[in-house]
Amino acid sequence: QGLHQLFVAAGKLFFGTAIETNNFNDTAYLAIANNRQEFGMYVPENSQKWEEIQPAPATFDFAAPDAVLARARQNGQMFRCHTLTWHSQLPAFVANGTWTRDTLAAVIVAHITNVMTHYRGLCYAWDVVNEALNDNGTFRDSVFFRTLGTDFIPLSFAAASRADPAARLYYNDFNLETSPPKAAAAVRIVQLVQALNIPIHGLGFQAHFRVGLTPNVTSLVATQNLFTSLGLEVSFSELDIAHLSLPPNASSIARQSQDYVTVVQACLAVPKCVGITLWQFTDKYSWIPSTFPGLGDACLYTADFEKKPAYEAVRRYLEGD
Ligand code: G3I
Repeated sequence: QGLHQLFVAAGKLFFGTAIETNNFNDTAYLAIANNRQEFGMYVPENSQKWEEIQPAPATFDFAAPDAVLARARQNGQMFRCHTLTWHSQLPAFVANGTWTRDTLAAVIVAHITNVMTHYRGLCYAWDVVNEALNDNGTFRDSVFFRTLGTDFIPLSFAAASRADPAARLYYNDFNLETSPPKAAAAVRIVQLVQALNIPIHGLGFQAHFRVGLTPNVTSLVATQNLFTSLGLEVSFSELDIAHLSLPPNASSIARQSQDYVTVVQACLAVPKCVGITLWQFTDKYSWIPSTFPGLGDACLYTADFEKKPAYEAVRRYLEGD
């Protein structure tokens, strides 16, 4: 049985993967990605980001995300949407603009409204705001924060809830599992939005972990419950677990298997953890080696599309072996 099938049998909504149209010419890749028993959810790795989807004012390019969506629908898979208000991968007209509060607010609302209207009713969830925090819990410097302070956050969620009432609206970030000040600041972000009676439904833990440094189940459960206790659902939205040195040896390979099982256990242990999304499923297309030279082999499949021991460990765990 595939991992999605097993995860659904365990009471979850999805086990999915990031995917992108530049993977679509790889038939071996698609032979795995198209199998909805393996992956029940796609999220576009890059093509819904602001610089790609609205590269110039009022110029929208939906072709690539539409192709990911079409493949998901053809396969009977769900579609998760990523991301709207994010400091990175912004087009120059936004990043370098001279803004007043009102003009930037209008640009954010227009972006979110146009993009979400295009996908209205078709996204299980949107990462409405991504990575607004530094690891020490302060707000990240960005054109949004400089111009609007924290107001860009409720502003984004309010526009999102108007544009697509069906989508679950997430705040998404990384290192919340390992940095208590960052997790506490994310709690304050959720409370900020909730205090204004603006919908926020979920918290995405990106979960870009490192072999041997993955938090234990107890810690991951406690961090999830910071947010489920506020009424949110949670999910592990970008899971990969990178080896710190390559090639991996037998002990780090065994450790990677344990770490993947830990994340699966932590989601299963929290009723409102709705699922896990891998950030690509094969080392062949992982973002990590080009970003962190020397780290890698983070995915469940090798670059040759072989299932790794970590894949088998997750499958055995889910099958109750
Ligand atoms: O599209 C251009 C292409 O035209 C150009 O020829 C090429 C070479 O310069 O670059 C291409 O853009 C690249 C883009 O991916 C699309 O492939 C960028 O250089 C590259 O930086 C970008 O990397 C992406 C990264 O986000 C950017 O921040 C990764 O693929 C993607 O996996 C990664 O994903 C993020 C999540 O969105 C948010 N959480 C963290 C995660 C990892 O950084």
